[in-house]
Amino acid sequence: MDKKVSPAKSLCGVLRLPADKSISHRAAMFAALHKGKSRIDNFSEAADPHSTLNCLRRLEIPIKELNDEDRTILVEGVGREGLQQPKEDLDCGNSGTTMRLLSGIIAGAGITARLIGDESLSRRTMKRIIDPLTGMGCNVEAREDDFAPLKISRKGPLKPLHFPLPIPSAQLKSCVLLAGLFGDEPTEVIETIPSRDHTERLLELPVREGQGERIISSSRNQQIPKQSYRIPNDFSAAAFWLVAGAIHPDAEIELKNVGMNPTRTGALNILREMGVNIEVRDLRTEGAEPVADLFVSSSELYPVEITKDIVPNCIDEIPILAIAMLFADGVSRISGAKELRHKETDRLKALAGVMQKTGADFEEYEDGFEIRGRSDFIPQASSYDSEEDHRIAMAAAVLSLMAESSSTILDAECVSVSYPSFWNDMALLTN
Ligand code: S3P
Repeated sequence: MDKKVSPAKSLCGVLRLPADKSISHRAAMFAALHKGKSRIDNFSEAADPHSTLNCLRRLEIPIKELNDEDRTILVEGVGREGLQQPKEDLDCGNSGTTMRLLSGIIAGAGITARLIGDESLSRRTMKRIIDPLTGMGCNVEAREDDFAPLKISRKGPLKPLHFPLPIPSAQLKSCVLLAGLFGDEPTEVIETIPSRDHTERLLELPVREGQGERIISSSRNQQIPKQSYRIPNDFSAAAFWLVAGAIHPDAEIELKNVGMNPTRTGALNILREMGVNIEVRDLRTEGAEPVADLFVSSSELYPVEITKDIVPNCIDEIPILAIAMLFADGVSRISGAKELRHKETDRLKALAGVMQKTGADFEEYEDGFEIRGRSDFIPQASSYDSEEDHRIAMAAAVLSLMAESSSTILDAECVSVSYPSFWNDMALLTN
């Protein structure tokens, strides 16, 4: 499906937003590992967390979706010992989080399973998880030793691992810690650049901090808590509207119940540094996670520089931050973001394609880019190739709201991976 996006005269309204994708995956997986019932409210409707539910069902976990207002799911957790060998492949769809986290669980549980993914996921590197899982005594067969399908099995005992993270990746960290949950001796993951911490929070894993390091450990001795809570809405979805509200001259947008986990809200700090008017209202805690309502209005933007240390805290928001940079007078830069080349698409390349079409002053680097922005920038109306990547499609759509005539987003249905109601929400704000 291609989607026509017309310029917006104004952007006003209140949005409910989709539930957090990262937390939805984890809530379902950890509820399966807890022995007993969990009731998860506001479970994401997006395709990726549903890939996780489908895989868990293949591992014989009873999951009921109530399809009610609260989008509640009921999970009957079987505990670490109760996982069953799947009879069919575990289809992770487009979801890297499903494949990488589930691989840790399969490896730890010592069952044999084959994990498959769609074309995009089958092009993404799995070496990062294959190496530590092999170090823990597991056997991982992969296409060209790197790519899905992955066949995971284990003959001998699970070995504990002391693992300094070679890249600041929450998926990698979580994979190793989840495998470690099945070991008699503790497995330790050491991170120097913090990445999202939902796994350690929701599993209440011990964390030691000091000398610029966080050491997180997991073992069989740790109880797996029941996962009954309400999932906050997705900050990564909110970011599209924070930028839309900031760059549009007539905007007032309120975003409800947004997850405010500090390891996720790097883009909020960056946008504030750029001069964006964002109010954080009613900051509160729901379950293990902080939540607030956000309010954004039209703003005058300044350029910004983003460096390696803060990239993991805004990794998924970089495509939409690039759109904000277009409207800031002066040069904005981002470096240390090579990881973007390993997402659903090579996002640096995909962004360069969007920027070229819109007539931006943009230079792509191996690990980032530079943008010379202008407060009076008018995007060229164009036909933007999303490369079937949800975040590229949504970033190009926000950009298109600022053009003088209509643009087209190609393969626009890909937004359903994280934000199925994106086009409806856009219509709600522009009408
Ligand atoms: C995620 C971690 C990030 C992020 C992805 C979701 C997670 O990936 O880009 O969308 O839920 O753990 P990396 O950990 O590989 O950077």
